[in-house]
Amino acid sequence: MIPMVDLKQQFHDIKDEICAAITEVLESSQYILGPKVMELERQIAAYHGMPAALGVASGTDALHLAVEALGIGEGDEVITTPFTFFATAEAIMYTGATPVFVDIEPDTMNIDPVEIEKKITERTRAILPVHIFGHPADMDRINALAKKYALKVIEDCAQSFGAEYNGRKTGSFGDAGCFSFYPSKNLGAYGDGGMILLKDPAVTEDVRKLRNHGSKGMYRHECVGFNSRLDEIQAAILLVKFGRIDHYNELRRQKAALYNSLLSGKVELPVERAGCRHVYHQYTIRSNNRVGLQKILHDKGASSVVYYPVPVHLQEAVSVLGYKKGDLPVAEEAAEKVLSLPVYPELEESSIREIAEIINHA
Ligand SMILES: Cc1ncc(COP(=O)(O)O)c(C=O)c1O
Repeated sequence: MIPMVDLKQQFHDIKDEICAAITEVLESSQYILGPKVMELERQIAAYHGMPAALGVASGTDALHLAVEALGIGEGDEVITTPFTFFATAEAIMYTGATPVFVDIEPDTMNIDPVEIEKKITERTRAILPVHIFGHPADMDRINALAKKYALKVIEDCAQSFGAEYNGRKTGSFGDAGCFSFYPSKNLGAYGDGGMILLKDPAVTEDVRKLRNHGSKGMYRHECVGFNSRLDEIQAAILLVKFGRIDHYNELRRQKAALYNSLLSGKVELPVERAGCRHVYHQYTIRSNNRVGLQKILHDKGASSVVYYPVPVHLQEAVSVLGYKKGDLPVAEEAAEKVLSLPVYPELEESSIREIAEIINHA
């Protein structure tokens, strides 16, 4: 079976460096908020041209702490996309704020700026775009709206490490850029982890406190916070992989280009807009007969996954918000047609040819 990802092969390719990095942490006995976390924060902030980066326990926590530190909570609204992993909405709801879902662009499947403006009210505090599957959201138009209505912008970059919009990295456009290091992400740890890129020094200090029980250290607690720290061992692993991220992303782009050249007109291919650098966290096609296509792929030995079968506004957990089928038709149609194919740096060219042939003959 051709897998969706092959983390074991990647580990074997870099095993010596990973094991040496882990051993160094174990020998140091500094296991929480030590030098590896600080070094990773420094390198990732510099990579994005941002003044600050703070490691946290997960991508979900990165979003949650960013929303919280930007002063958003009970009674506030945050406009976001329904076509995302559920955590995007959860993070907003943890703070007591209400997610307001707006429809997506048919081509990129990212939040549609035209729809955002229609839903801005006096309660709106922020826009939370997701760079879905690794393709940047339309940040110029989103930031223009944020400026016009004095809103915060929080980018969900869980799937877009290294992606670019007009030559600038995603995560550097908003007030906060939130990353996930979940193992299968483009930059993945061997456990949970996340990071927040920040601009404002006061907000940065608030996140620094929030991630560590409301304390800057020495058992003085200025607010009630959380235990949400990036683990030192994960930071050591991430430093090894971060050195290779541009190469890994380039390989993903090459795999995507090969799929694009091989797949004939029967399925809709992912787009890459002018000025955007897609990093293909997922290579996602759309088909009018997804169920049949997925079965054929499975029967012939190729994995595929539906990200995401139910848009967030129709999830049972948020039924209290009162959305119904038909409210956000573009996202709902995407959820019925999308199918993600294997794409990862180590994927063999022969596997891509095999998968393309199965689809072309299906
Ligand atoms: C778009 C998106 N947002 C948020 C998250 C949450 O990240 P984590 O699993 O690290 O909490 C993920 C991935 O898991 C994601 O894909």
